[in-house]
Amino acid sequence: MNVLHVVANPRPIEESVSKQLAASFFATLLGKNPDVTVNNIDLYEDPPPYLSLNAYRRIYTPLVNPEYKPTKAEEDSIAYAKEQAEALRQADVLVLTMPMWAGGPPAILKAWLDQVAQPGLLFNVENGVVKPLHQLRKIILLVASGDVYKEGDDRDGLTPIIRNTFGFLGVTDIEVAWADGQDPNFHSDGEDRKQTALEMTEELAEEVAEAP
Ligand SMILES: Cc1cc2nc3c(=O)[nH]c(=O)nc-3n(C[C@H](O)[C@H](O)[C@H](O)COP(=O)(O)O)c2cc1C
Repeated sequence: MNVLHVVANPRPIEESVSKQLAASFFATLLGKNPDVTVNNIDLYEDPPPYLSLNAYRRIYTPLVNPEYKPTKAEEDSIAYAKEQAEALRQADVLVLTMPMWAGGPPAILKAWLDQVAQPGLLFNVENGVVKPLHQLRKIILLVASGDVYKEGDDRDGLTPIIRNTFGFLGVTDIEVAWADGQDPNFHSDGEDRKQTALEMTEELAEEVAEAP
């Protein structure tokens, strides 16, 4: 089983609750199933560009003009997207580790999604139907936030982006371990909440480790 781990958090693990969830997830997963292969991508070490006009032209013109030949600049502009999409195409499971910032995912994660969730890279469209070009079957989302949230909360702009984007690509098995209430200025039970999220994380890792 191939697991792709994408991290969108610049903080070191001692300071980052979401990275602590990820460490626990992978310790349990690899402890239970040493045959799992993990590919780590740290977006702060290999940052995505914003989707450019050249990239837009290279990705979308072929959908309306089969004669289109990209310029070198247009082809070069999707090098990052092609490389990251290839990592995703090799994965059975995707783990996303991030904080909640300003009600949603960090901008670097959104920029990465804009790069990879593209026709010709992760899906094709045939007669109006999306045909996935990947084998992803599950996504695990490891999140920390300062405030207290329940999924479905109107203030949650993070999980809907992940569910909508990957749902479009045909992945609906998305599980979340969320350490909320981590800002001690507002919540005094952050440690308990972190422990609950760590327990959830371990359950998710066991599920993945035991999956056929
Ligand atoms: C720029 C920034 C924006 C934030 N926005 C929110 C927010 O909208 N909602 C929230 O609950 N917490 C917010 N927080 C708090 C973080 O989500 C919280 O510190 C969390 O623990 C970060 O995850 P980490 O510990 O893995 O780095 C924000 C923090 C930063 C630095």
